[in-house]
Amino acid sequence: MSPYFDVAAIRREFPAAARMVYLDSGFQTPLSRPVKEAFESFLHEGYEAAGPKSVWLERLEMVRAKVAQLIGASPGEIAFTKNTSESMNIAANALPLGAGDTVLMIDGDHPNNVYAFLNLKRKGVRVRFIPMTDVVDANCFLPHLDSSTRAISMSHVTFHAGHRFDVESVGRLCAERKFHFVVDVMQAIGVVPIDAKKIGATFIGSGTHKGLLVPQGLGFLYWNKSFKELQPTYLATAGLARPPADFIAREDNMALAPTAGRFELGNFNLPAVQALGAALDLVERIGVENIQNHCFDLGDHLIDRLDQAGIALVGPRERARRSPHIYVIGLPAHDWLDYFAANNIRVSPERDGIRVSLGMFNTRADIDALMTAIGRRGVSRPSRAA
Ligand SMILES: Cc1ncc(COP(=O)(O)O)c(C=O)c1O
Repeated sequence: MSPYFDVAAIRREFPAAARMVYLDSGFQTPLSRPVKEAFESFLHEGYEAAGPKSVWLERLEMVRAKVAQLIGASPGEIAFTKNTSESMNIAANALPLGAGDTVLMIDGDHPNNVYAFLNLKRKGVRVRFIPMTDVVDANCFLPHLDSSTRAISMSHVTFHAGHRFDVESVGRLCAERKFHFVVDVMQAIGVVPIDAKKIGATFIGSGTHKGLLVPQGLGFLYWNKSFKELQPTYLATAGLARPPADFIAREDNMALAPTAGRFELGNFNLPAVQALGAALDLVERIGVENIQNHCFDLGDHLIDRLDQAGIALVGPRERARRSPHIYVIGLPAHDWLDYFAANNIRVSPERDGIRVSLGMFNTRADIDALMTAIGRRGVSRPSRAA
C-alpha cells in the first residue's frame, strides 16, 4: 500500500514487474501498456495509411509541450535529441568556450557528460574536476574557481551511488558569476521534480529510457532561450527560422529558429516521441512528487532491511542528499550478479556494489524478495563499500 497512489493498479500496467523482481529502472525502464499501445498505434498508422506524417508532427509538438511542462519550461525551449550524450554534446559545443577557458566538472561523473566537455580539448578548453563527495553544492565549487572558469557541468543524480546534488545552489553561483551551467538529469527525470528555472541552467539534457518510460533512442535538450546568442554546431533545415519553401538551400536567409528547434537535426524518432506522450500522461496522472515519495518510502524500507542484515549502503542515507530511487548495496557485484540473475532478480553492477533502482511500479514486496534472496545465500564476510 502507498499513501500516494494506487501502486497495485500502476503495477498492472508493467507486466514485466509480475514476471521478475525488477529493481533496475536506473538502467532501463520496463515498458508499460500505454507506451506499448502508443507504439502499436504508430505502427498501425504507418502500416495501414503509409504514415500520416503531418499528424505525427502535430503530435510531436504536443509532446514537446508536455516535456516543457514537466520541467517548468516553455515548449520553445525544448529540442528533441537522440539521448543524453547528444544533448550534452550539443550543449558543450554551443557554449562560447575557447582556448584557455575552464569547465568545472565532478570527478567520476557520468562519462557521457564528461566526454562531451573533454572533447573540447581540441579547442584548447580545459576540464578541471572537483572531488565527488556525498554533498556537492555551490560551496564545493568555490575553491576551484579562477579567472579562467566559464562553465560548470554536472549530473543532478548520480548513476553509481544515488547522490542527489544541490543543482539549484550551483545554478545560483553560475548566475552570480555569469558562468554557463549544464545539467544532466538522466537519472532524475520522472522521479525527482525538476524546475528548469529554479536550477538556472543554460542547458539541461536527458534521455527518456529510465524515469520517462520509453525505450532507448530519444532524448531532449532544454535551452534557456534568454541565451539567444548560443548557436548550434550543426545545422539542418529544421534549425532555421524560415526554411526555404522551395527546398533549395541558399546562403542568405539562414537566420536561426528563435526556439530550441535550432538545435534539432532532420527527422525525429517519431514512434518514440509518440510513446513518450503516453508515458508523460502516465507520469503526470500519478505526479512526479508522488513517484518520488513512493520511492523514498521504499528506499527507507530497503535501508532498514540492509541495516538489519549488516549490509552497507554505498552513497548517502539521508533523504535530503540521496535520490529517491537509486541505492547501491555494498555487496561485490562479481560475487552476486549471477546469483541474483538465477533468482530472477534484475539489478545492475556498479563501481561499488550492486545497484537497486526503483520505479513507480515497485513495492515493498520487491525489496523483501531481494533481501530474502540475500539472506538465503548469506553474507559471509562483513559487507563494505567494495
Ligand atoms: C547520469 C547519466 N547520464 C547519461 C546516461 C546515458 O547516456 P545516453 O542517454 O546518452 O545513453 C546515463 C545512463 O544511461 C546516466 O546515468
